[in-house]
Amino acid sequence: MNLEDKIYIFDTTLRDGEQTPGVALTVDEKIQIAQKLNNLGVDKLEVGFPASSKGEIESARKISSMGLDSTLVGLARSLPGDIDAVLDADLDYIHTFIGTSPLHRDYKLKMSKEQIIEKAVSSVEYAKDHGLTVEFSAEDGTRTERDFLFEVFNEVVDAGVDFLDVPDTVGVLTPILTHELISDIKANFTVPISVHFHNDFGLATANTLTAIECGANQAHVTVNGLGERTGNCSLEELVMTLKASYGIDLGLDTTRLYSLSTLVGRLTGVKMPVNKPIVGDNAFAHESGIHVHGILNNASTYEPMSPEMVGHSRRIVLGKHTGANALKAKLKDYHIDLDEKQFCKVFDEIKALGDSGKCVTDDDLVAIAVTELASARETPIVLKGLGLSSGNGVSPTATVRLEIDGVEKEKAAIGVGPIDAALNAIQDLLHDDIDMELEEYNLEAITGGTDALAEVFVITSDSQGNRSTGRSTNQDVVMASILAVLDSINKLLLIKNRNFE
Ligand code: KIV
Ligand code: ZN
Repeated sequence: MNLEDKIYIFDTTLRDGEQTPGVALTVDEKIQIAQKLNNLGVDKLEVGFPASSKGEIESARKISSMGLDSTLVGLARSLPGDIDAVLDADLDYIHTFIGTSPLHRDYKLKMSKEQIIEKAVSSVEYAKDHGLTVEFSAEDGTRTERDFLFEVFNEVVDAGVDFLDVPDTVGVLTPILTHELISDIKANFTVPISVHFHNDFGLATANTLTAIECGANQAHVTVNGLGERTGNCSLEELVMTLKASYGIDLGLDTTRLYSLSTLVGRLTGVKMPVNKPIVGDNAFAHESGIHVHGILNNASTYEPMSPEMVGHSRRIVLGKHTGANALKAKLKDYHIDLDEKQFCKVFDEIKALGDSGKCVTDDDLVAIAVTELASARETPIVLKGLGLSSGNGVSPTATVRLEIDGVEKEKAAIGVGPIDAALNAIQDLLHDDIDMELEEYNLEAITGGTDALAEVFVITSDSQGNRSTGRSTNQDVVMASILAVLDSINKLLLIKNRNFE
């Protein structure tokens, strides 16, 4: 793409973005977002719809008084009262609109074409007479008869409009339709063209990009693609596609995009899905061995842009697809040195965790690796005996005998089942030595039949935040559980007393 004219970024997070169902921003929150958008370098910032409430006027006034570089815009219907509210809010730029499509004329406004033109023209004239820069939107323009859309545009151009905006109010455009429409408008009008595209079919960014390719001079966008229903064209997606794919730098400080997205997510309560382009948690996350191998050699192998370009960060995620290179890199990050045997055991454990459907966090990795290091040392607690009794109408009881630092001790406890009873007995026996909590308990039958081998995997932790894993395989489920827990506790005790620097 070769752009001759400047492309203006018109951000409407504080107006259309705030129309996201369930979102309402306080004056202070609007101020925080406005400051960040200004620092990013957006050309225009639609701060709200002043006629809609006193709070909107107040926030617009406060933002006006901040002395930002971005041009501040207020929305107004094509009504004198709405235009007065924009003036009242100390704004110099108005975005005025009226529905032009048959649906809006017949069912919403109940006005004839002539009445629509009269309202549009008189409001543009009124705003111009009051010294405002005027952008006019033909609401639902993409479902408006082409000849009527052009008629309205011609009339407002004659009235002195500064920008003509084409809203795809319900997001029905596709890139090909956009190409045809915007090329036609560009061929017929010399006034700068703006586009305001909604995302009902997930095409808002693609359509906006196409409009720019066809000569549109301005794009309405929102942070995180917020906005009515499924939102508007996303600021970060548009700006980064232009920058990373076309090499077009709009002069925005894109390294601020991620923190802006996070702030808007926090203040609006609309969290981004992990796979949201540019700002989602997974935008620069890699798990598969093949990809991580490539990334570690040269990040461009599996990244279209660097995370630093948008202020995000790269994440190597561990799981069932992890390869040895990824694991080595992670262990290096945590300064954990394992010999080959230990490395293989940790690798197998990570894969087993991934296979069991668990997402392996960095904390899990550290716990597994550190416990592997710890397990090379002596075991302070040894199971010396186990007795179980259960039946109908009585509480299951377990008697556990442990050797703790060379001294044998025995306790009995009841529980909701034999495993619970045995774990309660262990907890009673150890409560002077460790305040252990069972964080995770996984039981799997690894062979079939009544004599199936049971494999138990546990994670335990103590109140100082130490965590360790334990594993055991036995034909007796209770035995497998106790041995896995003791395995984990032994490691936990060693971690507690260790110095692994
Ligand atoms: O989507 C829309 O049509 C709008 C108008 C106010 C321009 O947001
Ligand atoms: Zn809109």
